[in-house]
Amino acid sequence: MTQHLAAPLSGTSDDAPGHRTGWWQDAVIYQVYPRSFADGNGDGMGDLDGVRRRLPYLRELGVDAVWLSPFYASPQADAGYDVADYRAIDPMFGTLLDADALIHDAHALGLRVIVDLVPNHSSDAHDWFRRALREGPGSALRERYHFRPGKGAHGELPPNDWESVFGGAAWTRTTDPDGTPGDWYLHLFAPEQPDFNWDHPAVADEFRSILRFWLDMGVDGFRVDVAHGLVKAPGLPDLGGAGRLRLLGTADGGTPFFDQDGVHAIYRQWRTILDEYPGERIAVAEAWTPTVERTAHYVRPDELHQAFNFQYLATSWESEALREVIEVSLAAMRPVGAPATWVLSNHDVTRHATRFAGPPGVGTQTREPGDRVLGLRRARAATLLMLALPGSAYVYQGEELGLPDVTDLPDEARQDPSYFRADGQDGFRDGCRVPIPWAREGSSYGFGAGGSWLPQPDHWGELSVEAQTGDPASTLELYRAALSVRKEHPGLGGGSAVEWRDAPEGVLIFARTGFVCTVNTTGTAVRIPAPGELLLASGPVDAGNTAPGAEFELPADTTVWWSV
Ligand code: NOJ
Repeated sequence: MTQHLAAPLSGTSDDAPGHRTGWWQDAVIYQVYPRSFADGNGDGMGDLDGVRRRLPYLRELGVDAVWLSPFYASPQADAGYDVADYRAIDPMFGTLLDADALIHDAHALGLRVIVDLVPNHSSDAHDWFRRALREGPGSALRERYHFRPGKGAHGELPPNDWESVFGGAAWTRTTDPDGTPGDWYLHLFAPEQPDFNWDHPAVADEFRSILRFWLDMGVDGFRVDVAHGLVKAPGLPDLGGAGRLRLLGTADGGTPFFDQDGVHAIYRQWRTILDEYPGERIAVAEAWTPTVERTAHYVRPDELHQAFNFQYLATSWESEALREVIEVSLAAMRPVGAPATWVLSNHDVTRHATRFAGPPGVGTQTREPGDRVLGLRRARAATLLMLALPGSAYVYQGEELGLPDVTDLPDEARQDPSYFRADGQDGFRDGCRVPIPWAREGSSYGFGAGGSWLPQPDHWGELSVEAQTGDPASTLELYRAALSVRKEHPGLGGGSAVEWRDAPEGVLIFARTGFVCTVNTTGTAVRIPAPGELLLASGPVDAGNTAPGAEFELPADTTVWWSV
């Protein structure tokens, strides 16, 4: 494969390395889950050609960048988060030429492209791991992973008490080439995802090279999977007592496999590589940490650019909780000079239209469908709140259609490995991964010419892009309008603070430059003085009482944007 196939986004190619335009500081970044976005070849599985054909839709939607979940060569034990070859595209998604064409076309449309990087673990089908198993104990390649003898008289017990995020032991025993039971290897996720040993220089070298490979291909950045997990405490000590409760890490970095201080040296090295390239290439950390203060460590000026704000994602639709997480997030990012980020949905959690459809406190995973009408109403209000905050926002494919989670997928259709490892107790991620509807009717509602790898519900057609386009009351047109206002209005996205105003209970009112956002999180309408000219509302409002200063009725579960 030749290098420099796709030019950086036009308008930035002449930028001197290190020049800062800050495109990412307030960018709206759209997550494409390639399996489920658009199927170009009709085999029931989304692919890069499908994404490429739909780029004009994303441009029209008004987002700044696209983040693609993994499309690399992979046995798909964890939907591509098990990578066998970091420099190859899985045939189910296309070829490197398709990736090049996608990057090229996205840039031509003014869209940046962020790819997923999975450095914590590879697939068990990765050449290094296969050879490590084949060569048996003593193989130098075993040093690149965490192989250990088991405990117990015959090594029959795992080397320590760590549990996999997907349930069960974080260790799997190998069989030696002569057929006898051998050492164990560590996998914080599925057994098909062995963890790399980041203390080994070959691992660090390899990932520096992989970064360059994709930067040379023209990508604008990376989303770093499990960014908090790469470094493990020396000696892999037992976790003891608290078990799975500590999966998120602890506020003092005291979990031996997550959020260890050693990860930051890796990101400092990566930052120097990113900065060598023109056009401001960025990286965003997927770091599940217990506090936003710990998250801020990943985005110090010489480390990564952004980190997902999972505390925000996990907050329920309650004004006090929302205000607190917004304040804490902004305060945590200010000292490190990084933009706050905001996200409501992604491919690992129940879609927010469903999370908000029931009582507060459901957590990030639920199989309860709740009240769909209420959930959508709140989801729309939550989106306008998110898009009014200073910093960068992430939109997960299909949320612009107001899609709910598919909570009643038949067990035999499910593919999420955590569903099987957790005995069906808490692995519900397939519900947010159902292919999205483009058309009212037809095979897989326009997803592709064939079927769809997860079954779509019967009502999918009425939620399609086709059905919603041009309908001013639709969620799609709300997103389009919101993103267009956000682009034109100086008070949105930029800056690093909001000015809170007095508000009735359950209501949030905050001001930005030239702009006010009013949010009613309660189930009843409230009366407030209209703060300015109405810009946009997440639901129907009485247009008769929106004159500045007039008493305005802010409906239940509704957000209104005002120009002041
Ligand atoms: C986080 C990804 O978002 C998730 O889908 C995946 O299962 C784990 N990391 C393991 O790679």
